[in-house]
Amino acid sequence: MSRIAYVNGRYVRRSQASVNIEDRGYQFADGVYEVCEVRGGQLVDERRHMERLVRSLTELRIALPMSLTALSVVLHEVVRRNRVMDGIVYLQVTRGVARRDHAFPAPEVPPSVVVTANRLDVGRAEALAGEGIAVITVPENRWDRVDIKSIALLPNVLAKQQAREQGAREAWYVGRDGKVTEGSSSNAWIVTRDGKVVTRQADHGILRGITRTVLLDAIKAKGLDLEERPFTVAEALAAREAFLTSASQIVMPVVRIDGHPIGNGAPGLLSTALRREFRRYSEVS
Ligand code: PDD
Repeated sequence: MSRIAYVNGRYVRRSQASVNIEDRGYQFADGVYEVCEVRGGQLVDERRHMERLVRSLTELRIALPMSLTALSVVLHEVVRRNRVMDGIVYLQVTRGVARRDHAFPAPEVPPSVVVTANRLDVGRAEALAGEGIAVITVPENRWDRVDIKSIALLPNVLAKQQAREQGAREAWYVGRDGKVTEGSSSNAWIVTRDGKVVTRQADHGILRGITRTVLLDAIKAKGLDLEERPFTVAEALAAREAFLTSASQIVMPVVRIDGHPIGNGAPGLLSTALRREFRRYSEVS
């Protein structure tokens, strides 16, 4: 766990880090977050994560708590103080502290900011990528603005728990149209038998993953066949490969969906190559 956290202007020990019980994040999940990968002590694709943060805040009419330059200093400082070389940095911004009332506080209150950083075991992640993971499918039951990276994650929590209880590491949401939207904390991809890479277009039905965006650059640069469109569970089951993307998992091969093996049941060649390739297209700062 993060030893040092940034909480509203101060770097504090975790044992002393706390938020007000009237914080609207705690009361209403009225806030947004970002998770950025840390690699070799540097932030991966910070610029894109900050762009998405600004978009999420704007959509919810929460003020940017400080300049992006100041925020960048805080993110790097939390990484440094926790001596994280490889891991993630977590940033949360909520609408602030006010007496409990569903409507926005009037007058406005300053947003609350929390930043933590945690190490991830790179060796373990690579071993997992070498084996591939199992995924289950669950009915899509989230609101229709999941493009906003809101901290309201109860459906995602329940889906992930269901996956865990069924021996899988991720749950893919399936809409009423039978099409996969995304995972509970990742974007979903398949490679069809004729070699097309397919992932859902980034509309309001999915979070526009930063890893997804960077991987699209890699796929286009390599001249691979790409289709940004929804795919069905049946298509995924018949696919040659499947994988998911997120800041903490990069490109993670999926080898089983609802207990059925995908392709030959081992991580796909393209998924594995794209995992390696990702680093060439991401920015570090
Ligand atoms: N999850 N879709 C959902 C619902 C997510 O929560 C995430 C990220 C993604 C992938 O986005 P990105 O590539 O920018 O990480 C897609 C983060 C890692 C989390 O909740 O921990």
